[in-house]
Amino acid sequence: FTTKRFHFSVEWNTVTRLCHRKEVLTVNGKYPGPTIAVNEGDNVQVIVTNRVATNTTIHWHGVRQLRTGWADGPAYITQCPIGRGKTYTYNFTVVDQRGTLWWHAHFAWQRASVYGAFIIYPNTPFPFSPPIHSHFPIIFGEWWNRDVEVVEREMMLYGGGPNSSDAYTINGLPGPLYPCSTTDTFIKTVEAGKTYLLRIINAALNDELFFAVANHNLTVVEIDAVYTKPFTTSAIMITPGQTTNVLLTTDQIPDSTAMFAMAARPYLTSVFPFDNSTTIGFFKYKTTSKNTKFERNKPPMPPYTLPNNLPAMEDTPFATNFSNNLRSLASKAYPCNVPQKIDKRVVMTISLNLQDCPFNQTCQGYLGKRFYASMNNQSFVRPSLSILESHYRNLKSTEFSSDFPEKPPYVFNYTGVDPVTENMNTEFGTKVVEVAFGTRLEIVLQDTNFLNPENHPIHVHGHNFFIVGRGFGNFDVVKDPKGYNLVDPPERNTVAVPMGGWAALRINADNPGVWFIHCHLEEHTSWGLAMGFIVKGGKEPSQCLLPPPSDLPPC
Ligand code: C2O
Repeated sequence: FTTKRFHFSVEWNTVTRLCHRKEVLTVNGKYPGPTIAVNEGDNVQVIVTNRVATNTTIHWHGVRQLRTGWADGPAYITQCPIGRGKTYTYNFTVVDQRGTLWWHAHFAWQRASVYGAFIIYPNTPFPFSPPIHSHFPIIFGEWWNRDVEVVEREMMLYGGGPNSSDAYTINGLPGPLYPCSTTDTFIKTVEAGKTYLLRIINAALNDELFFAVANHNLTVVEIDAVYTKPFTTSAIMITPGQTTNVLLTTDQIPDSTAMFAMAARPYLTSVFPFDNSTTIGFFKYKTTSKNTKFERNKPPMPPYTLPNNLPAMEDTPFATNFSNNLRSLASKAYPCNVPQKIDKRVVMTISLNLQDCPFNQTCQGYLGKRFYASMNNQSFVRPSLSILESHYRNLKSTEFSSDFPEKPPYVFNYTGVDPVTENMNTEFGTKVVEVAFGTRLEIVLQDTNFLNPENHPIHVHGHNFFIVGRGFGNFDVVKDPKGYNLVDPPERNTVAVPMGGWAALRINADNPGVWFIHCHLEEHTSWGLAMGFIVKGGKEPSQCLLPPPSDLPPC
């Protein structure tokens, strides 16, 4: 195999958007960060140097990290953070994975600006057609005019929801619908009559997004670096943490005015005031005519029309239908290894919660209380030594325990939850679910519909899972498994659990180590919507975690 080496310097840089100039945490000064591109089977070494005063870590979102949990990145789960002036080399091999993933900081809210694409080129030709002319990332993000560190701190201090971002971005650019932003617009020149592969990544902190391109359909061919049965759609829905590869065929007439808007805006219900702004960019057809009406790389003149195929903010039927259309390829070359039987089922409520405001404080959460979030009413607290280290060294840790409740603490009924009297008092702690190597595990995620206006994008580290079922209302342990798709369910690392509904995942727990499972809405992770997951080593040495690298940061 080949080793591919990259140098990441975590440093501040000055960035201006919406006429606000500020210091932004970056990798190598870039916002968004550099793209990593490797081949299937490569050994990857990313040498990360922290050149700022605060701690940091980097996570390779979706990379399986087979036996190399030390390189996964979430702070206090698999490693202690990289301190000021320190260097740590993330060393891992990309095994049996191909497609688009991404990387991001996994410390506090640093991923607001510290993120980029992680592309794995396949060793064999794409299983879809037609051949692609070229490919490029489309990464959604969020921009705050204020310092993100301050937004995060205030949220935790006052217990309310965070300030919404000031703009959504495409490849770091908000586009001309935001004030003072016309020149910060993503414009991609394309040739007519070709097929392009768009590597779409949702790196936004707190919002699921719809995305569409005016006058063009999109054909989904891959999700979370797993090929799918191609299906053509007018728009996509993508949650934070997810990636989606789509084909776009430039089938419009290439006259000199041919600019087509691409647009992303949130998918949620508007029980609360949420930011429903839209980021746009453009596809510009190359023309042969000399007198192009527009200057290169300038957006067209306003007014801008949104693609009429962009779903409205609350379009749950579109989102549901889109998710239901995703299917694993399940071919001979790319079989679907969904467990047909299970050894264990764990049912988890995922919930927002309210706690009484500490005496003498004002809290900005609902009804003057403080927001928390939980899984089975456990609100996750990070330990001070990484769980992976405690686990590996067999330290009798008092900081975490393996007694995570495997069903909800009460019979859960999502209808008629009274936000004031029910579902309030979470337990705070560091509990993990621990399973033997090779366990065929089913996890049913049940949204409690409590103060929740959107799907929870639940992300599992170290494993892909198969989404064998989804539905609205309460999961029924007798009826619902009868409807599971055990033939070609979508395989991913992040699932959108429908609001007021459930999703059933099946996992082959074949990656020994300690893994983080959490909501990829950053505010929910901060509030504790997270848990640890330990897969014990197997009997063979090849089924065990590798020893820690010598430069693993100490706590
Ligand atoms: Cu994309 Cu735990 O992260």
